[in-house]
Amino acid sequence: MQIHRYEKLWFGVSLLLIVGFIATITYGAVGAGIQMVGDEGGTVDPGEIGDYEIRDGTTFSDIQEPQATHVEGDSYEVAVSSQQFIFNPGTSEPIQVPENSEVTIYTSSPDVIHGIKLPGTNVNTMVIPGEMTKITVEFDEPAEYGIVCNEFCGAGHETMAGNLEVVPEDEWEGDA
Ligand code: CUA
Repeated sequence: MQIHRYEKLWFGVSLLLIVGFIATITYGAVGAGIQMVGDEGGTVDPGEIGDYEIRDGTTFSDIQEPQATHVEGDSYEVAVSSQQFIFNPGTSEPIQVPENSEVTIYTSSPDVIHGIKLPGTNVNTMVIPGEMTKITVEFDEPAEYGIVCNEFCGAGHETMAGNLEVVPEDEWEGDA
């Protein structure tokens, strides 16, 4: 069978395009370091998120403080209630973490679905009543981040915001 030269050329070009598309999708899925939030946080009674056990002897309400709780090494954690229409802590006073820290944020909702996003970081996830969301983020230098809700959650949705401060090591007053 005789195949025209241009026909072959276009066949080759379209094959290349298909391979290229697959490559970009593969890169976007695995190469860029984007992860789905795991379900290891487990479920929680929306009415009693404060009682959720972070680990033996430590509950959600124990670490629900503006100042992040030191765990070990450079690991810190903070628990945030994402609720209509505040982050507690975060809205009335900023969450504080030290620089050069790895912070695990636990958050859940006692009412409706919210979102939690810290622009400029990898934190961007839904907060679902009945589920404990656990997300880890690294802070290498002093900075201020906004916290926003990015799921429509009712009449005050657009006001639901807060702040997180990464404090220089020599000004950090919490445990280290
Ligand atoms: Cu909470 Cu929108």
